[in-house]
Amino acid sequence: MIKTAFFTILTLVFFYIIWINNVFAPHETYEMPEQYKKIAEDDRYAKEGKQLFEQNCQACHSVRYDAVYPSAIQANPNLKALQEQYGKVLPRDVYESAFQAELAQLKESFGKVPPDLSTIYIAKGKEYLFNFILEPQKVLPGTSMPAVITGKPEETAKIISYLRSVSEPSSSEKAKRTLMGIGTIAYLVVMGVLIWIWRSRILKRMGLH
Ligand code: HEC
Repeated sequence: MIKTAFFTILTLVFFYIIWINNVFAPHETYEMPEQYKKIAEDDRYAKEGKQLFEQNCQACHSVRYDAVYPSAIQANPNLKALQEQYGKVLPRDVYESAFQAELAQLKESFGKVPPDLSTIYIAKGKEYLFNFILEPQKVLPGTSMPAVITGKPEETAKIISYLRSVSEPSSSEKAKRTLMGIGTIAYLVVMGVLIWIWRSRILKRMGLH
């Protein structure tokens, strides 16, 4: 009985932490007005956000999962040939060795290669991104990321919507995964119950029950 209660609570705590509230993740809070949150969470702005990204950010950043590469690399005629060979989204090792010169140039200009932003939305969240992109110096004092879009919160939110659309699965895909998750757990519960019934039957037959 105690054992059962103990493992039940342990399981509940486990799922609470991974699904509902990860108490171990850093919880620095950044402000983001509700109206811009709505834009950032809306798939309909992703396309416009991508254009804004191309205009304001692509000089330095890649979004490799979306086959968006820094301008200097985009201008390299080798890119097309490599994409024909490996697919639009180049494998990381191919990308890094083929465009060593361009990446080194970016590193020389900024002290480091501006990070790829494919998964930055998941890593940092919209509130952090909103504040950082609008005012990099305020969030990361001394950073070499210039303030390229300061004073334009709506554009910033649209760019975040684009970055979210790349790093998060679409809402229909998410619904499918949730359904699969529930299906898997239901299957395990049903099998667990069946095995338990079977076990008590065997015990009974052996005269142990
Ligand atoms: C002129 C080059 C340049 C441009 C243009 C630029 N960035 Fe950056 N960005 C950088 C560099 C360099 C860093 C690394 C900063 C650091 O680690 O100090 C960076 C870092 C970042 C980070 C990571 C912050 C973190 O906490 O790790 C994000 C997000 C980002 N940029 C978003 C953007 C967006 C969105 C745009 C367009 C609106 C943009 N950047 C335009 C150079 C640039």
